Amino acid sequence: MYFIANWKMFGDIKSLNSLNKVLKFLRLKNSNKFRLIYCPPYTLLNLFHKKIKNSNIELGAQNCHQEEISGPFTGSISSKMLKKIGAKYVIIGHSENRAVGETNLIINKKIESSLRSGLKIIFCIGETLQQKRKKHTHKVLLEQVSKGLKGIKKLNNVIFAYEPVWSIGTGIIPKSNDLKKTIVFLRKNLLKRFGLKNPKILYGGSVNPKNVRNFKELNVIDGFLVGGASQDSKKFIDIVKKTFN
Ligand code: 13P
Repeated sequence: MYFIANWKMFGDIKSLNSLNKVLKFLRLKNSNKFRLIYCPPYTLLNLFHKKIKNSNIELGAQNCHQEEISGPFTGSISSKMLKKIGAKYVIIGHSENRAVGETNLIINKKIESSLRSGLKIIFCIGETLQQKRKKHTHKVLLEQVSKGLKGIKKLNNVIFAYEPVWSIGTGIIPKSNDLKKTIVFLRKNLLKRFGLKNPKILYGGSVNPKNVRNFKELNVIDGFLVGGASQDSKKFIDIVKKTFN
């Protein structure tokens, strides 16, 4: 099971102290049942890398530029730079970036260049509330997946994160039945279109220690992409614990 902390645009040097609890938890519970990945803001990547050295925590970034090679792209960071600083993963296609203009085409380029740089991709897909109301969820997911992955070969290094936009930060979660159907639909189509036999598919959207067990019990989810609750290490640890007990 994957547990991925997406800190979004939160956190400063002080917030690194919150990792102590998580490191302690990992020392006590050295388990191969789960992977913990932190995706802090760019400003903390280097410090995180130093802090989690010699632990089982892995590092990811929240986005990158579509060009892997350095160039005149003010304000941007390339996948190569991320790799060099110690990141193993990068989140691509988060709805908060799609909402400000990131298209499926840009996402496709980002996935391609990040894979070339040797990163693993946490590829976010999900429908908006309006699309859900129109019953377009499956159609939207298919479009995001087929355009986002067009021409891409190393699909084993892509982890999928289904994040319904209406569930992010709202406390509203999908009905178990709907979620299960959607994940099963995704699995079928990833097999049919890309030959992916056992893709990792995570869920993200208002995951917390109270609801995580219900998601796990659906038996179709390989882990969680956690926003708000991941900034509180006690809650994040509880999410891991509750998943298994
Ligand atoms: P919340 O867990 O805060 O709903 O955020 C989910 C998310 O966007 C993770 O990428």
